[in-house]
Amino acid sequence: MRQAQVGQFVVGRVRDLPPGLSRSVRAGGRRIALFNERGKLYAVDEACPHMRADLSNGDLRDGTLTCAWHGWRFDIRTGEGLTRSWARLRTHRLYRKGDELILEMADPSEASGDTGNDPGCPPPGREP
Ligand code: FES
Repeated sequence: MRQAQVGQFVVGRVRDLPPGLSRSVRAGGRRIALFNERGKLYAVDEACPHMRADLSNGDLRDGTLTCAWHGWRFDIRTGEGLTRSWARLRTHRLYRKGDELILEMADPSEASGDTGNDPGCPPPGREP
């Protein structure tokens, strides 16, 4: 993995992520789940906000990502939690440049930190 610019990382070759597949990479100190749904590329922080399952193992259909562990659903385009509105995903930009996949982190200043989503401590009054 090499950094292209501040907040941008070359995370592989286009052929590494064909349509219908997903994978997990490490970039900027974070684990990021990459998806190719029928040619559309998406990237989100890998850890599910519920109990930190690897979201690259989830099921992505028509822009809805379903976690493989307990089925929480997310809009992968916006990060919106569809099962629990407070459980949002941090989304990133993923695009092709030549034959490389470029990841643009949403907030590089937080690249080495935690998402702040503590699966054991949802907001008061919310069940996990
Ligand atoms: S860990 Fe993702 S829904 Fe439970």
